[in-house]
Amino acid sequence: MLVPVQERLRQDIEGWIKSNGGDRSSLLPVLQEVQKKYSRISDYAMQVIADLLDIHPVEVHGVVSFYSFLKEAHKGRFEIRLCRTISCDMAGRDRVARQLENELGITFGETTPDGRFSLEWANCVGMCDQGPALLVNEQVFTCVTPEKVHDILAHFKKMMDINVFQQAEEH
Ligand code: FES
Repeated sequence: MLVPVQERLRQDIEGWIKSNGGDRSSLLPVLQEVQKKYSRISDYAMQVIADLLDIHPVEVHGVVSFYSFLKEAHKGRFEIRLCRTISCDMAGRDRVARQLENELGITFGETTPDGRFSLEWANCVGMCDQGPALLVNEQVFTCVTPEKVHDILAHFKKMMDINVFQQAEEH
């Protein structure tokens, strides 16, 4: 038997497919709807979409991987992407990278066990004169130093704690 959240997700996907034409051209808009409502696109969601559109799950996965604004479920709530292109490299991205790894206890390509942060490399994000640059989800940070890494992480940890507290109060 499906657990309620999966059942709800399936019903949502069925509705979005219907309202977006019901054929494979609805793939991208449906993925965007899943992303908007559920923050992430799980393997289960990809499987359901593939079944309902009668396409191969690999095709759905390929679209999710291609568009950077679509996130797979295994990524952390906050995705940190450090620019590894030459200007940022010369401005000290290695020291920033080490600090991120040390503070989070993970290496690049990994997600913290609590699902809060994942660490990825990015290519030039257009802030070359203010490197090292990194993104946390869509937010850009420039001239990042190892000391600044600590402040950035503390900021997002605090933000998450406040959210958890607010959710607990609402229930
Ligand atoms: S090289 Fe890092 S932002 Fe351009």
